Amino acid sequence: MKIEPFGVEEWMNAYEEQARFNVAETCVESLTVEELLDLSGGRESFLEEFLSRKLTYGEIPGSFDLRGHISRLYDTQDEGNVLLAHGGIGANFLALFTLVEPRDRVVVVKPTYQQLYSVPKSFGAEVRMLGLRPENDFLPDLDELQKLVGDRCKLIVLNNPNNPTGALMDSAFLREAVRIAERAGAWILCDEVYRGLEHDPGEKTPSVVDLSERAVATGSLSKVFSLAGLRLGWVAGPKDFIRECFSRRDYTTISCGMIDEMLAIRAFSHRDRIRERNLPLVRKNASILDRWVAAEKRLSYVRPRAGTTAFIHYDLPVPSEEFCKGLFDFNGAFIVPGKAFDFEGWFRVGYSCATETLEQGLAAISSYIGTL
Ligand SMILES: Cc1ncc(COP(=O)(O)O)c(C=O)c1O
Repeated sequence: MKIEPFGVEEWMNAYEEQARFNVAETCVESLTVEELLDLSGGRESFLEEFLSRKLTYGEIPGSFDLRGHISRLYDTQDEGNVLLAHGGIGANFLALFTLVEPRDRVVVVKPTYQQLYSVPKSFGAEVRMLGLRPENDFLPDLDELQKLVGDRCKLIVLNNPNNPTGALMDSAFLREAVRIAERAGAWILCDEVYRGLEHDPGEKTPSVVDLSERAVATGSLSKVFSLAGLRLGWVAGPKDFIRECFSRRDYTTISCGMIDEMLAIRAFSHRDRIRERNLPLVRKNASILDRWVAAEKRLSYVRPRAGTTAFIHYDLPVPSEEFCKGLFDFNGAFIVPGKAFDFEGWFRVGYSCATETLEQGLAAISSYIGTL
């Protein structure tokens, strides 16, 4: 089976470790184990439990307790609607592996996380791209979606909030998309790993699983919980679909690590404390980014409404990979070229790192632009 190289992941692998100012990262500034235990209290009881744990495979679908916590992120799900996976990336793969067969028509938004279209292509699906455009605030054009779906679509794939643009589909908008899927008898899969990071406190990202019975959502502890090192994600969806996923997952995963799950339960039990740390950071940094873009004459963007990333247009006659590599060589600031999303003239900034890193990174990009 052939598969295209994963643009963003290859770019990150090549440069991330050597970056001086990493403003490419998509997680809200990651937590240390110590910070997590301090946030959640009860360090001694955790260590006692940790040391006494017998390292079996644990509960195969993921601990019942953890699946309960995850299910409460949705209005209509319970433990049986949730299956643990190796990160959001493992969850997406499992959902696609379960849903997509050769020659199925799959409609996917773009730009987005490349896995969401390259994996179905590698399975032999007929993948149709639904281009997201800045003039539509990077929201899908629903008439175009309807046309691409046609009369024999198996799956519509969305990403809400979107990476890289930070666009957010609200409930009314998502309902329209769900209706298009339902009318065509198609499934809808939404990568929701940035759900819960809205900039406007009055806004809430709905989940597709609360809007339709033929919908699947994927989520993760990496971004919103700042715990990418746990490598834990999940698929949420109808119980018979979860059973199908489970029988496929038996061939790749058996179970996720029980130590990771212990830490994840801690995080969920003190979710409010993590939100109190992360949301102000994301919102403050988004304002800093906004002021910076406004002050940079050659830059423009659609202001992100949620998530951790922004997609920025630059008005310079340089291909995006050359621009980003030039920046990295000039002063070690690290961003992602639009080319990794098949968008020339754009780059992605991850602005949810420590505020100091963001400020230094943006200043470094400004001084590089000044040399061009
Ligand atoms: C939209 C999206 N989905 C999935 C992932 C994978 O995340 P993880 O496997 O760390 O949960 C990422 C990572 O950047 C992402 O941006």
